[in-house]
Amino acid sequence: MILPILGYMSGLVTIDDFATAFALFESEGLEGYVNGGSGTGLTMASNRAAWDAIEIRPRILTGVGSRDLTTVVLGTQEKHPIMVAPVGFQGYVHADGARALASGAVAAGARYCHSTFGGASFADLEQIDGLRWWFQLYSFTDAGLNRSLIERAQEAGAEAIVLTVDLAALGHRDRDAHTGFALRGNRQVACVAEVGHPDPKLSSVWNSLDHDISWETLQQVLTVATVPVLVKGVLRGDDAATAIAQGAAGVIVSNHGGRQLDTAVSTQRALVDVVEAVDGRGEVLVDSGIRYGTDVVKALGLGASAVLVGRPPLWGLGVAGHEGVARVLALMVEDFDRAMALVGASSVGDITNDLFVLPR
Ligand code: FNR
Repeated sequence: MILPILGYMSGLVTIDDFATAFALFESEGLEGYVNGGSGTGLTMASNRAAWDAIEIRPRILTGVGSRDLTTVVLGTQEKHPIMVAPVGFQGYVHADGARALASGAVAAGARYCHSTFGGASFADLEQIDGLRWWFQLYSFTDAGLNRSLIERAQEAGAEAIVLTVDLAALGHRDRDAHTGFALRGNRQVACVAEVGHPDPKLSSVWNSLDHDISWETLQQVLTVATVPVLVKGVLRGDDAATAIAQGAAGVIVSNHGGRQLDTAVSTQRALVDVVEAVDGRGEVLVDSGIRYGTDVVKALGLGASAVLVGRPPLWGLGVAGHEGVARVLALMVEDFDRAMALVGASSVGDITNDLFVLPR
């Protein structure tokens, strides 16, 4: 959907405005699919509540007139620490789906993570000037398919492989069950089609997801990958430490935006546990419920090197395609810059955990 009213987007001046516009104009089924959580939505709510519950103790008189938002993740300089999380099936939100999401990320100086179920092929991504991206892999029972996807992604320029590990079963999305929303099984999965798989229809590809995924899967991915591997969907310090001991470059603390296990721990709480367990031996990123500049400050102060956002760019995509994505991300970056100034930080390194009062 693109809002038909010319100039409408100039009236959307906060992330919440985009959320409202998306909810207002999308069909009930699609809105529920994007915005819904699993079960009764407790984890989705606690993600937000946990970021909100941290109070900030800003420093004063620190001379923050010029601020440097850059940060280094996996040895690479990023313009700012806000990245686009992997989301599949963007074609339901906008005809230009994944390409618009990726090019919107470029416009906002954000790194883009492309989902296995993203609506663009590797060849499509190669056409996007300035794109800096990672490839998110769901593991399939066919190890040859996993290998082909990783190799083709690397050849097309993916700078890391993100192995998502929290889909041993699909979370029960209550809203989808009520609206009857279902993805169309006869659509092709672009990346799977591109690597020459004989049956790239979503229904077949979905059925070949590896629900028996294990530490051995990580080993297999590490064997094929020539770029760093991140494990996404980690909620425990011990698992994070194991992933890194096995050779992962880092982890993404994530509960899939509250879409998988309902009542799973909020990512803010999990982040504290994971950062302590990893103890600087690998990269720690976090997502789920991050919406405001202050959330980004909190995540970084608690030890994350970057954050990912899933639904907000989709809201922008639905409202205004590429421009909407770029606008949502720009609003987040502006908000982060403002939050840095107000907490007394002129660089990302100044964001330390003494800035916070954590709830007891
Ligand atoms: C997702 N997410 C996701 N994760 C992943 O690893 N591969 C995928 O294909 C998808 N697909 C997907 C679709 C939709 C519609 C949503 C909302 C989410 C999860 C995503 O990467 C991220 O973890 C969460 O979206 C982060 O939470 P917020 O920012 O949406 O609250």
